[in-house]
Amino acid sequence: MPSEQSPLFYPDLALSKNAYVSSSAEYQQMYKKSIENPEEFWGEIARQFHWETPIDSDKFFRYNFDLTKGPIFNKWLDGATTNISYNLLDRNIRNGHGDKIAYYWEGNHPDDYSRLTYKKLLEEVCRFANVLKSLGVKKGDRVAIYMPMILEAVITLLACTRIGAVHSLVFAGFSSDSFAERITDCEARIIVTADGVWRGEKLLQLKSICDQAMAKCAQEGHNVQHCIVVSHLERVTSPSGSQRHSNRTPMTEGRDIWWQDVVPQASTSCYPEWMQAEDPLFMLYTSGSTGKPKGVLHTTAGYLLYAATTFKYVFDYKLNDVYWCTADIGWITGHSYVVYGPLANAATSVLFEGTPFYPDNDRFWAVIDKYKVTQFYTAPTAIRALMKFGEQIVKKHNLSTLKVMGSVGEPINPEAWLWYYKVVGHEKASIVDTFWQTETGGHVLTTLPGALPMKPGAAGFPFFGVQPVLLDENGKEIKGEGEGYLVFSRPWPGLMRTLYGSHDRYEVTYFSKFPGYYCTGDGARRDADGYLWVTGRVDDMLNVSGHLMSTAEIESVLTEHEHVSEAAVVAKPHPVKGECLYCFITLSEQGTYNEALLKELKTHVRERIGPFAQPDVIQNAPALPKTRSGKIMRRILRKVAVNDREVGDISTLAETGVVEQLFAMRPPNA
Ligand code: PRX
Repeated sequence: MPSEQSPLFYPDLALSKNAYVSSSAEYQQMYKKSIENPEEFWGEIARQFHWETPIDSDKFFRYNFDLTKGPIFNKWLDGATTNISYNLLDRNIRNGHGDKIAYYWEGNHPDDYSRLTYKKLLEEVCRFANVLKSLGVKKGDRVAIYMPMILEAVITLLACTRIGAVHSLVFAGFSSDSFAERITDCEARIIVTADGVWRGEKLLQLKSICDQAMAKCAQEGHNVQHCIVVSHLERVTSPSGSQRHSNRTPMTEGRDIWWQDVVPQASTSCYPEWMQAEDPLFMLYTSGSTGKPKGVLHTTAGYLLYAATTFKYVFDYKLNDVYWCTADIGWITGHSYVVYGPLANAATSVLFEGTPFYPDNDRFWAVIDKYKVTQFYTAPTAIRALMKFGEQIVKKHNLSTLKVMGSVGEPINPEAWLWYYKVVGHEKASIVDTFWQTETGGHVLTTLPGALPMKPGAAGFPFFGVQPVLLDENGKEIKGEGEGYLVFSRPWPGLMRTLYGSHDRYEVTYFSKFPGYYCTGDGARRDADGYLWVTGRVDDMLNVSGHLMSTAEIESVLTEHEHVSEAAVVAKPHPVKGECLYCFITLSEQGTYNEALLKELKTHVRERIGPFAQPDVIQNAPALPKTRSGKIMRRILRKVAVNDREVGDISTLAETGVVEQLFAMRPPNA
């Protein structure tokens, strides 16, 4: 990994001059204030929002990160009450932004597009909030959402916040099994979905997946009362031309309700439910290293402050800018930087339903050109996939409006960074490599676009209020240059508060390894200039195209097959996805390693988790390399995956012959 030798790329002078934070010195000064006087720093920001019950300065923030001192907690602005939808909509309208476009919606097919102003968004949110109320949804109830990138998805989230319901959005690429598990875990009685969606040329029948999920929930004894379905397919253009897809999904009477049958006639006003600062806002599942997903819970006031502030400074958003984040709304990036952060800043955003490759491989560039996008936020995997098509396809479009370009989800390799910077950003737009997690609520490490020089591949520096520390295996702090576990020593407003229904798991997962610190699970190194380089996960998690998953969850799905007695999964570097899944399986006596079995296993993983989790390689492993105590040595499996025979010390293995056998049995295409 390059470090201090890396070239520094300085922000464009004009961008810097007009930025909220224009120099390194200014950043340092603000950062210092955020650490030394958080009440003043966050208090000034908080005062820009509406509080129905004012902030109690005695309770501004409190926390405990040290399990030996009692339960872990993190509270901000306790005692104050507010409503997020009120702050995102009514407040902006009151401030004169009612006719401003909140979203340009760009469909999968370029012929499909629409727009929604802040005023209209508020009306639609109120309508749907009233529908939810009429179905008996109350403050604190969970609403499960399985939706594509359509305006109704944003409306649904905000309608939940209007009435104090807790939304639990599940990425609409997860299988029905995964969705069912998440519905049951959060005991949602209401589901919101759409009949289907086109992704490129592929039709996804979302409602059928929900039907299967609801059937599975029923088997578990959990009955979903209502499923509200947006009729989407009939209003969009199918890839084969302009004919509309009128094949309506079957509806179960008494349970399923068409959105269009109930929302248009609902009232456009809905008084907001005033929520306590620490009332739950939403939950979002993320993979856990034990295999069971974790319901990360974010609360109201702190999350609002943090999403709003990171959005403003990291993207340097100004009122006439047009911002576009390509992340799906089903991930945390979609929550914080498609919905909450932008709306809190009265931003105009693009909401894109499609894929970068449809109808052609220049779709991203065409959309930036069409809407004159000024801030663009995407993932390294998308950049690497698009680099393959060369520069010409990018140059066909005018991308000169771009000022800030973000990267998120995984470390960005310098080659992709440079391509992004030179070809897409014309060496003018600043790149912000934002490191953060579902759990952190918003960006925690990044450079600010007008303030700090960039290094390709380095996340950079802490955001305001965030105090990163590198620790060695023994918990000793590494000061100055060095590499270690990336942890945080104090809370910031957006850090998650608990795991839904499992505070014990929260304490053990994040706070037990190093008392007094929130542990990210990532490693990082600090170079001589103080830049932080995130090196990737140090636990048993895999990051495929920015999708985090645990080895345990894939392994348990593989061993569900009757002929697989044991499985071990490791990450293998992949040129586009960053990492891909390399699986080792030990077969039972009845099992035969052949094409049919591999196909079955791949299909099984797709069905149980989702298509994004499909293994790239499944290798036959008559035995796995284990220590005498039975622990699988993944370090060796990672070497086999990349065919690197420098395996190091294997003397602790119970049977050393296993290693040679695994190298010999690597599939030819691996
Ligand atoms: O390993 C880090 C990686 O993604 C993980 C968090 O995944 P998730 O909770 O799904 O949230 C993804 C979007 C925020 C981290 O633990 N990661 C995320 N962003 C970066 C990153 N690794 C390096 N550089 C980044 N910019």
